[in-house]
Parts: sequence; C-alpha cells; structure tokens
Amino acid sequence: MKRQAAVYFHYPYCIKKCPYCDFNSYGLDHKRAAPNGASRSIEDLEQEYVSALLADLSSQIERANLTSQICTSVFFGGGTPSLMSPGSVEVILKRLFSLMQPSPEIEITLEANPGTIQETLGADKLRDFRSAGVNRISMGVQSFQPKKLKFLGRIHSANDSLEAVENIRSAGFENFNLDLMFGAAGETLDEWLSDLNSACLLEPQHISMYGLTIEPGTEFAVRSSRGAKLKVGEERESQMYRAGTELLADENYGRYEISNFAQPGKSCKHNLSYWTRREYLGVGAGAHGFIQTGAWGQRLYNAPAPHDYIKRINISSDAVIRREDLSKEQAQIEFFMLNLRKTEGFEADDYSMLFGEEMPTAVQAVLDQLSNAGMIALQDEHVQLSQEGFLFADSVFEEITLSLESAGP
Ligand SMILES: C[S@@+](CC[C@H](N)C(=O)[O-])C[C@H]1O[C@@H](n2cnc3c(N)ncnc32)[C@H](O)[C@@H]1O
Ligand code: SF4
Repeated sequence: MKRQAAVYFHYPYCIKKCPYCDFNSYGLDHKRAAPNGASRSIEDLEQEYVSALLADLSSQIERANLTSQICTSVFFGGGTPSLMSPGSVEVILKRLFSLMQPSPEIEITLEANPGTIQETLGADKLRDFRSAGVNRISMGVQSFQPKKLKFLGRIHSANDSLEAVENIRSAGFENFNLDLMFGAAGETLDEWLSDLNSACLLEPQHISMYGLTIEPGTEFAVRSSRGAKLKVGEERESQMYRAGTELLADENYGRYEISNFAQPGKSCKHNLSYWTRREYLGVGAGAHGFIQTGAWGQRLYNAPAPHDYIKRINISSDAVIRREDLSKEQAQIEFFMLNLRKTEGFEADDYSMLFGEEMPTAVQAVLDQLSNAGMIALQDEHVQLSQEGFLFADSVFEEITLSLESAGP
C-alpha cells in the first residue's frame, strides 16, 4: 500500500510583525528579511526563497522515500503566503505533483491576511491562486471591531475582511476559514459574541477561535513584563470560550478540535493529519516535519532564519538543524496529547494497536481520576475531553504526561 503524507510550506514574510505573534515570521522591514541590511524588493526575496523551497521539497521527498507516494493535503502557512505570486504557488505545486501523487480529494490551503487586500487579495489574484490549484483559503480576520484590531496591531480594517471574503467567493473558492481571536484586555463577552456573529454572517465553512496568548519573545510579552494588562482575566476568558462554542454550535459549526470549528464535513484535513500523527513534510524556514522511520518516528526541524535557511539549502539542499528520533515514551505522550485535542478523542484499541500493549495502569488510573473530576468522558473503551476538560486541556495533558513519566519504560 502507498504511504500517505501531508506537505506544509512555510512562507516567513509579513507586511508587518504583529505584537502578539511568535510564529516564525518577519515584517518586511525586518533585518532578517535582508541579511546584509540592504533593502530588497519583495519580488527578489520571493524568487530567492521559492528557489530554496523547490530544492528543499525535492530533496526532502527523496530523503523520506516519499517519491510516487500519496499527498493528502498541502498547506501554505506563514507568515503571509498570500504575499507570494500565484505563479510561485503554481511552480511549487507542479514540482510537488511531479514527485508525489495528489489524492483525488486533496485539500490545498493558502493562508491570507486581509490587510494585504490591495496587494494580494484582489479577485483576479485570488482567481489565479485558484487556477494554480489552491482550493481553500484561511484568513486571519481576528476581529471586526476597530478598537480590537488596533489593539492587536493589525494592518487591516473590518471592511478589508468583508471585501476579501467577497473576493474569495467571486474567485470561486467554496471552502474558506476565518481566524478570530478573543480575550484582549477590556473586551466584553458581548463584543466577542458580536465578532463571532459577524463571522457567521459571512458563512465560512470553518472558523478557528484562539484565546489571546502572551507568547515569550513577543512585543506583548515585553509590555506585559512591564506591567501592561493585555488580556482579560481567566474567568472571563473561559466564559468567552464556553459562550463562543455554544454560539458556533447553534450556527452549525461543530467543534472538532480545541480551537477549530467546522460545518459538517469541512474539518481541515491538513490540521487533522497533525492530530492523527500522519506523516508530513515541513518545507521552508523553520518548518518541521514528522516521518515514520525508526521505531516511533522522527521529527525534523528546519533552520528558522530565512537567510540561514536559504544558505543551507544552497550549500547542501538540506536545512534540517535537528532530527529527533522519538522514544516510546515521547510517542505515548504525543498519542494522548494529539488525540485528546480532537473532540472525538480515541478508542483504547487505537492505543493497543499502535503500541502493541494495553494502556499503562498508571495512565488508566489518571484517566479514572480525571473522569471523576469531570475533565474526561470515559465510555466503554472510548476516551475524550469533557466540555469542562476543553477549558483545562493543558492541565489534563500535564497529568497524563506525569503519569507516563512515572510509569517508566
Ligand atoms: C499564521 S497566522 C494566520 C495568517 C496571517 N498571518 C494573519 O495573521 O492574518 C495564524 C493565526 O494564529 C492566531 N494567533 C497568532 N498568534 C496568536 C497569539 N499569540 N494568541 C492567540 N492567537 C494567535 C491568529 O488568529 C492568526 O490568524
Ligand atoms: S500577519 Fe500573521 S504571521 Fe504575520 S505577524 Fe501577524 S499574526 Fe503573525
């Protein structure tokens, strides 16, 4: 049987770095975008970067023995990959499908920022992305409220988002996602629900909602360490998550993962491959991949800085700076953490099929405790987070990890 793998491409440039964002992304005015400090045109940067992506892709497929195997989904993430030209996307997809076989139902997503509507999200350009093979757009709307957009340092207005959605539709896309963020300081529950309602009115097939996180190394982290209050309190945040989940359920968006909601049959295939531990290649600066090799699989990490990435690819067609062969314990931790993120959870049988043994008794005991505490729903052999468990997912994962560590090899 042929192997099935997903492919992720990272495009690291954005017009401007958002103050909360710790993704491997660089504002186009950032020094790392132009290593010698010289100002470079976006076209030059793109040409150089896309050549590296192509070389990286070919050599990763070969190294992972995935030639002629099946590609189930493609995701252009970032950064802001919608800044790329459709021509580049087309060349990348052509190269990929000359080496791997696209599955008939392949999903090909491109992330977009509504703030680039003038430069990148006009209906013509979107139509060209569509012709290049992209069949799903994921757009970082974040909010429809001027106050919140300004607080988040976004470069777009609510109107830009509305216009972009109109263009996405008129370009023929029948599948798109909107990202929203909640929990910015001062935000009320009503304001948050109004954001969600505005998103639902646009009838996307998929909505992701993320609680604002203060990530180390970001501008928000610096401001927060100096005493700025940037988030609502924990209680309000939980209330927002709960009410948001209910509102989306009423609008026919089912939660299939902690932060991801979709109309029936419209879950993001690419994201699901991460949570089901399917193999995937990570191509581009800072991208990471997972390959089934050795006993428990290997995770690979590319060099994050674009200039370093390009240099490494030009020298050796290999930008991997870390290859991590997973131990059985790491694979077990991943099994629980990834499967429990999904609303559907997992069956005890899934565990025994993968590991060839029953779940360790220490883990079973913790699952029982978590079930008594109302965090986990256990039914026969089925395990999933409870409604309450979704709010405290990190603590649930921590308890399970500790029990695995205490169980030993
Ligand atoms: C790579 S971005 C999406 C595309 C594009 N770069 C944009 O921002 O418009 C992925 C999403 O992660 C979410 N995100 C990023 N940083 C976050 C943070 N610190 N807290 C919560 N959500 C965050 C945002 O909703 C963002 O749209
Ligand atoms: S546009 Fe997206 S990737 Fe770029 S800095 Fe903002 S949130 Fe991060």
